[in-house]
Amino acid sequence: MHRNIDSRRAGRLHSGNPFAPSIADHRGAGRKSLLTQAKTLQKSQFPPPKTVWIEPTNACNLKCSWCFQANGAMTRPLGMMTFETFKRVISEIEPFKPQINMHLAGESFLHKELIQMVEHAKKHGLTVAMTTNGTLLRKNDFAILDSGIDFINVSLAGVNSEDYLRVRGMKNFDEVKKTVEDLGAAKVGRRSSAEIQVNATETEQNRGGVAEFKNKFGSMSGIQGVLVRSLMDWQGTVDVSGMKVKSGVVPGLKRFVKSHRRLLKTYVVAKSARNLVATRGAKLRNRTLCDAPYASAGILWDGTVVPCCLDYNGTIPLGNINEKSFMEIWNDEPINNLRKMLKSVEATRAHPTCGPCRGL
Ligand SMILES: C[S@@+](CC[C@H](N)C(=O)[O-])C[C@H]1O[C@@H](n2cnc3c(N)ncnc32)[C@H](O)[C@@H]1O
Ligand code: SF4
Ligand code: SF4
Repeated sequence: MHRNIDSRRAGRLHSGNPFAPSIADHRGAGRKSLLTQAKTLQKSQFPPPKTVWIEPTNACNLKCSWCFQANGAMTRPLGMMTFETFKRVISEIEPFKPQINMHLAGESFLHKELIQMVEHAKKHGLTVAMTTNGTLLRKNDFAILDSGIDFINVSLAGVNSEDYLRVRGMKNFDEVKKTVEDLGAAKVGRRSSAEIQVNATETEQNRGGVAEFKNKFGSMSGIQGVLVRSLMDWQGTVDVSGMKVKSGVVPGLKRFVKSHRRLLKTYVVAKSARNLVATRGAKLRNRTLCDAPYASAGILWDGTVVPCCLDYNGTIPLGNINEKSFMEIWNDEPINNLRKMLKSVEATRAHPTCGPCRGL
């Protein structure tokens, strides 16, 4: 069960399901008829989520410098979702056909049943996506392409070898680039319908290399797109201050704005007014500061349901899929309390995860 996991963390790896006793009590949940589940859906106060992140594992074989995997911020135990829990999740969410993203806090290719999980979800008619660090994509001759998966998003972390070394502390940028090239070629050769995207995260250090990165990867055969992500600080738990892009304004526009002082003033006033309206307005209009508990859910490897893919530590547990049905959790007290909290600026600001996440 130790796979490629850092030996310091391997001791924390759980191979079994800590909620095992409750599985016996809840055995019927996975076998509920589609009709019963459809009735539960009809009774639901809130429409079910359109996106569900499922975490095969929270273990990772890398330590990207801007990730919670590198600085020890992720304190929950490492583990692998059992196939039994996965099947339960699929049977619970199948009736409302969300898109599932097969990753959350770790590297999903470390799970030895990843391909079977994707195949199972596809058999149940779900749209399946995943994001991967790309280092294990070649497994079994790109077997992922034959699993029926709809979207594969490969994270390059750096835009070139120098940047990759800075972020991942490794010298294998060219190797991962070749893997992406071969994946694209295999996709075309096998006529796989998977859409392949490549992503990198923009930092102050790599801004100059982003355009070339986009051209290089965007022009590869079989690759459908390149996504450039904004840098996050994972709700204040990872120090990214040295990597933050210094200005969101494109250099040319910044020079233009600077040379027109009145325009600059108007821009600053409009920007702060917009922020004020956004936060005050949310409270006044009784709107939510975050739509995650209406639109998405994450299911951690041990079955814990969280509202979003950002809650990598499981600090907002809403229930466990091995103990309650998904729709019960979706309409239960913990998620309703969260929805209520997210209507108030003051209450959200005081929340250790949602406060920093919303920049409050
Ligand atoms: C947490 S990873 C999990 C999936 C997989 N291990 C991977 O790296 O693709 C999900 C995504 O978050 C990105 N990511 C990690 N830390 C980030 C940060 N501080 N800012 C922006 N994106 C980040 C990764 O590059 C990846 O695309
Ligand atoms: S970004 Fe992905 S690959 Fe990098 S350390 Fe985090 S989980 Fe692992
Ligand atoms: S505000 Fe809270 S629920 Fe919404 S995305 Fe951030 S951490 Fe998740």
